Amino acid sequence: MTKPLEGVKIIDFTHVQAGPACTQLLAWFGADVIKVERPGAGDVTRNQLRDIPGVDALYFTMLNSNKRSLTLDTKTQDGKEVLERLIQESDVLVENFAPGALDRMGFTWERINELNPKMIVASVKGFSDGHHYDDLKVYENVAQCAGGAASTTGFWDGPPTVSAAALGDSNTGMHLAIGILTALIGRDKTGKGQKVAVSMQDSVINLCRVKLRDQQRLDRVGYLEEYPQYPHGEFTDVVPRGGNAGGGGQPGWVLKCKGWETDPNAYIYFTVQGHAWEPICRAIGKPEWIDDPAYKTAEARQPHIFDIFNTIETWLADKTKFEAVDILRKFDIPCSPVLSMKEIANDPSLRASGTITEVQHKARGSYLTVGSPIKFSDMKPEITGSPLLGEHTEEVLKGLGYSFEQIASMREAKVV
Ligand code: COA
Repeated sequence: MTKPLEGVKIIDFTHVQAGPACTQLLAWFGADVIKVERPGAGDVTRNQLRDIPGVDALYFTMLNSNKRSLTLDTKTQDGKEVLERLIQESDVLVENFAPGALDRMGFTWERINELNPKMIVASVKGFSDGHHYDDLKVYENVAQCAGGAASTTGFWDGPPTVSAAALGDSNTGMHLAIGILTALIGRDKTGKGQKVAVSMQDSVINLCRVKLRDQQRLDRVGYLEEYPQYPHGEFTDVVPRGGNAGGGGQPGWVLKCKGWETDPNAYIYFTVQGHAWEPICRAIGKPEWIDDPAYKTAEARQPHIFDIFNTIETWLADKTKFEAVDILRKFDIPCSPVLSMKEIANDPSLRASGTITEVQHKARGSYLTVGSPIKFSDMKPEITGSPLLGEHTEEVLKGLGYSFEQIASMREAKVV
């Protein structure tokens, strides 16, 4: 099966999570992604949080599948020459070094553009160029705090809270992938490459769009009716943390199910969709609420929405989260069990769709990873194991025209 990105060659100068998540996605869809890593060390995640001594950590293997690995010291003269040749015959260079690192290496945008005017140079940084923090190094949680996610996540009586979802890292990588694909389509029209930049702060802000909506509503009316603070609590002049509130026009909450006392995930998320009030009442055995003026409209329900949730929890007390969802789905109620990572790892539907997939690794054997969340009718991305450090060095260098002797001498000098 030919893949849509076959023929696109990508220099993957990325590390940790944000950049690797982007290039991994492009590799799944057929791009030839060559990961350039420092000889002897490689991407720092190869060593971080190892579960098997001496074997690449899952942190690395789960973000670098379908790639080739080239070791290259790009601070040496020979290393720079190799990189120059690679730039001349590639389509995209992706990097997420600290601000200025690529320039310090001698590969400014101007220099790359001179070597290959068709080259797309794609970067992740913590803050956008020209931002007053644009010199900062940034990791996931720093971005979540800078992007409005932390100040709006958690409970009102607790501190700002970061999400477990990689809003700063993988999310930024996904934004960058969209930017790269857009630039590739643009290049088909203009024949020219361009710089594509995404900041982690901006990518988090893009996902916090509804919180900026709420800030403006709060500025205008002084309250937010879908937040738990309404109507009994106090609002200040900033968007508060809303716990597990719905966040849109539908009130919702995480509700306890049978076994919650011992199982930390024995909960469902329950949504009170306005027009579904009647089926909700029937599902939970409260038909008398259907026409009761204290319950009939969303406005009437909101002041005592937590009493309503408490009543639903009483109904849930003798049902597991799966039993509850099986009943509620028949009434068309938007809901889900709160799934643990263990349940997700073993979910037959996720295995069948390829979202959770088992891959082989030369040193580790098999491991689970998250496959493509994007599904196509004409392509099923095949996820392969991540490369060992420098596994493809010789192959890539030969492809660039280096002789066996030249490669041996670069090995000797630890350039590769
Ligand atoms: N050969 C030679 N040198 C190499 C190399 C190679 N193959 N690969 C990297 N290097 C060098 C870089 O040139 C840089 O050198 P310099 O500082 O002398 O210019 C150095 O290695 C380290 O790069 P840096 O990015 O500063 O690493 P760090 O570990 O100090 O910082 C981050 C890590 C992630 C904080 C930083 O890269 C960053 O802020 N990146 C942008 C935002 C981001 O992506 N964050 C992570 C999200 S998961």
